[in-house]
Amino acid sequence: MAPPPTLVLQNVRLPSGRVADLTLAAGKVSHVGAYKGTAELCDCRGCIVIPAAVDMHVHMRGGVQSAKEDWGSGSMSAIAGGVTVVVDQPNTIPPLTTPHALADRVQDAKSHSYCNFAVNSGVTPETPLESMWDAGAMAFGEIFHAPSSYGDAIDGVALGAAFDRIFKLGGLATIHAERTNTSPDTDLVSHDLVRSSLGESEAVRTVQFLNRSDCRLHFCHMSSARSVDAASGSVEVTPHHLFLSSEQFDKSDTCGKVNPPLRTEAERMGLWGRWSRIDVIASDHAPHTREEKKQDFPGAPSGIPGVETMVPLLLAQVLAKKIDLASVIDKTSYAPARLLGIPCAGFDIGDRADFAIYSKKPELIKAESLHSRCGWTPFEGQKAIFPNMVVMNGSITYLGGEFYRQEPTWFAGKGYNGNH
Ligand code: DOR
Ligand code: ZN
Repeated sequence: MAPPPTLVLQNVRLPSGRVADLTLAAGKVSHVGAYKGTAELCDCRGCIVIPAAVDMHVHMRGGVQSAKEDWGSGSMSAIAGGVTVVVDQPNTIPPLTTPHALADRVQDAKSHSYCNFAVNSGVTPETPLESMWDAGAMAFGEIFHAPSSYGDAIDGVALGAAFDRIFKLGGLATIHAERTNTSPDTDLVSHDLVRSSLGESEAVRTVQFLNRSDCRLHFCHMSSARSVDAASGSVEVTPHHLFLSSEQFDKSDTCGKVNPPLRTEAERMGLWGRWSRIDVIASDHAPHTREEKKQDFPGAPSGIPGVETMVPLLLAQVLAKKIDLASVIDKTSYAPARLLGIPCAGFDIGDRADFAIYSKKPELIKAESLHSRCGWTPFEGQKAIFPNMVVMNGSITYLGGEFYRQEPTWFAGKGYNGNH
């Protein structure tokens, strides 16, 4: 017998333009079309209903970094921004490079996360990549091809060897490609020069050259058109490189300090010019506390929060008719799910029943309304549309600012041997 519906989203405008009811049951879409039963109903007439996002690049912190963020606060921030799946990065303290650490991380997320999740494996010359794959790592990296906050660079020889091993496993290598120089790094302008976009594009080429085994590559947070053009793997871009430039901040403002750096306005506009080539938008949510960011520029950590504002910023652009809704759905939900092998959320029968429902009213982003523990946002005052309701695994998990936590789903990678 078919499982009973958990929720019916009524009057949803589908991508085809047709308006229909979506019946959700057992975490999936079970019927598309008029519904006549007695299950819980939610009228979505006049709203934007889209598959919830898969943010494949977040740093959920936790442990000794819990003052910045942890699974509880970071995942609430995700949900309140229409993201129901996050992929956690392994540059935790200590770094996530043993199967035991991976199992602990999964357990922590299962107990505290409000959203579904996956966990990536760190990559160092000593990491037992094969055991990490067996333990359920979703992908490998971000692999630091230049040092960054809490990430040591891996050299070319070790990187080539790692690609050989990841290729044999059939895994995805996700790369933080940058090239740094040793000039003083004292403000946002010099930060952009020390980690230049030219250096980033050359690092992309070097990484591809080192990939003699033709391992599947995913380039994280490409910050300029020339880097996007250099990449032959999948390309990820962040909201901060699309919506912020170094010119929008006071030169000494560490809240704009991030790796790769914010670029000039001209480069930011150039990046928008590559919209159709960008495979994935991911936030690189990397919160640091206000106190940490108050340090002098050279000592302040790089990284900015963004998981909650990612889709809302993009939807405001859809409403302003700058980009189309289908491309936002593709880059924030379908494409990352496809790349990682996570079941797609969507409007067809059998699709994962994760949706976010938005009104058509933009508002201005205010840090005080957001949920990240870090308590600040570099997007303050920008136009955005936040979800009124978020559905995860077929049930309401967020409504009108209230959270209804459910057991999250862990998406293990393809190599998982089922041992924890
Ligand atoms: O700015 C960054 N912050 N870039 C990274 O690659 C790491 C991240 C962090 O973890 O803080
Ligand atoms: Zn990175």
